[in-house]
This record gives sequence, structure tokens and C-alpha cells, in this order.
Amino acid sequence: QSSRGRFFMINTRKIGIIGAGHVGSHCAFSLILQGVCDDITFVDVNKEKAVSQAFDCMDTLAFLPHRAVIKSGEIKDLGDKDIIIICVGTIDNISKDRLCELDHSLKIIKSFIPEIMKTGFNGYFIVITNPVDIITYYVQQLSGLPYNKVIGTGTGLDSARLRRILSVETEIDARSIQAYMLGEHGDSQVAAFSCATVNGKLLPELIAEKPEKFSKIDFEAIEKKTTETGWDILCGKGSTEFGIACTCTEVVKAIFHDEKKVMPCSAFLQGEYGTFDIYAGVPAVIGKEGIEYIIELPLNEREKKKLSNTFDIIKHHVEIGRESVKN
Ligand code: LAC
Repeated sequence: QSSRGRFFMINTRKIGIIGAGHVGSHCAFSLILQGVCDDITFVDVNKEKAVSQAFDCMDTLAFLPHRAVIKSGEIKDLGDKDIIIICVGTIDNISKDRLCELDHSLKIIKSFIPEIMKTGFNGYFIVITNPVDIITYYVQQLSGLPYNKVIGTGTGLDSARLRRILSVETEIDARSIQAYMLGEHGDSQVAAFSCATVNGKLLPELIAEKPEKFSKIDFEAIEKKTTETGWDILCGKGSTEFGIACTCTEVVKAIFHDEKKVMPCSAFLQGEYGTFDIYAGVPAVIGKEGIEYIIELPLNEREKKKLSNTFDIIKHHVEIGRESVKN
């Protein structure tokens, strides 16, 4: 009760992270290092790992921009979280084609989403677990939350990789390059080179105007390298963690700070890009409502054709998942 007799509550920003492995722990580290939230609860079937990740994160408290509470808990403790990040999955189940993880991942999320909803959870889900576009769809279906409150990291990570690779090839800072990978966070993703820009200048035009500087740029090779780099990293170090953790943190910041940020993520399509009823990687405006609306890029015919193919692959695997979720 404040002196003026009115109730005065400061809401701390609370996040649950389900999956305390490489990805979940790096999400937590990225969040507390950037001072994005005040309270993180790790949940994992391996309780000792959840406890250990919490204590290890707490060992940074003396150095953080502001205090954060990091602890471990159970699914039943997640009812009051503003955002729950889902990054479950086991390293030994990962395959080159993320779609192969569908059955295993669905079994896991089916086991806890209904439990979370019984707690009265009414925040946002950010989904990382692969195949993320289909898993995000079923997290929405199983939770019954509105589409805008269930967001997949999707091609947010792939677009960051594309910008990294283009940055190396063009020697232009990645933050000055706006370029998108669209569709599946997987082998069928599409590089939207025709509308990639360098602070407003179309990249293809810049490259054509300066052949002496950019003659070696091979868009097909860059698209392939972007698509495969996740697997290359995983084979080299046994996981990926830094890029995905920062991608997830960008979504969290956009929600908490109502940033109206435009970023690629796995969003529910209701006619955008000519498609309905799937989650797929597209540019979206993200703010306090979650996904506020989707931005349709002016794609060329080649890109539209490839996008239709990736949407079909996602649709096909949503149907495969339907059986698994029902049983
Ligand atoms: C990757 C995982 C997050 O691409 O799918 O690194």
C-alpha cells in the first residue's frame, strides 16, 4: 500500500525455460547478461542439471547489469511466468534433417503443455525445439493460446546467419544488411535475395553497380551455406547455442519492451504469402501483443516458387504430426 493509499505493484519480468541443456542455458545467459528479465526458472527432467544450470548462472550475479533470480523448478511452478521458452530435445536425437525429430519432440511437448495450461499460464510461448515450425504449431494447438502469443524462433536464426555470411562476403557490417531466410527452419528454407538491402539500397543493385568489389558473390552458394551452417556447427561442437540464444533474446526484448521490432520468426500464416494454417519463418512485427502482424516481402518468381515448396513441406509434416498428437 503506497502512502497515497493506492496499491502499488512492480511486476518483475519472469521467464520459464523448459530444457536446461546447451540451448536453454545459453538463452538464460543471454537474457541475464542483457538485463532483459528479473527471474528465470529452469525446468528439466534432469533435475540435477536444472539445479546446476541455475547455480552456474547465479555465479554471474556479481557482474550483471541488474539483479536477477535464477532457480530451478517444476512445470507446476510456471503458471505466473510472462514468457515460457521451450527448448527441449536430446542431442542424441538430433539429425541433419530437423524434420526427423518431429515424433520425439511431439511426444515431449504433449507431456507438459496441458500441465502448464492447468496452472492458469496466460503468457507467451517462444518455441525453439525442432522441427520448430511444426512444434510451434502444436504448442499453439495444445495450449489453445491465441496464435499471436505462440512464436517460433524459426528463420530468425537463419536470417542472422545469412547476414553473417553476406557480411563476410561483402565486407559490410551485418547490422547494416537486412536479408531474410523464409519458410522452414530447415533444408527447404529460401533466401529472399531480391529484396535484401544495405540500409535501403537493394543488395543486388549494389553488387551490380560495383562488380570490381562484389564480383565473387554467389547467391546460390550463400543460400546453401546458410542452410547448412547449423549442421556444420553442430557436427563441430556437438550443439549450437550462441546464435539461437541471441535470436530468442531478441524476441523476448521485443515483447517485454513493446518494441514493434520487425524480425523473422515462425508466425502463424492466415493468408499471408498465399498460405493458411501453418507456422513458417516470415518477417513479423513483434511487440507486447506478441506477433502483431506479418510483413509480406516483394519476392521474385523464383523465390515465390521455392517458398511454396517449403510451405508444402511444413504442411505435410503438420499432418504427419496430427496422428502422433492424437494418440
Ligand atoms: C540451429 C538449431 C537451433 O539451427 O536448429 O542451430
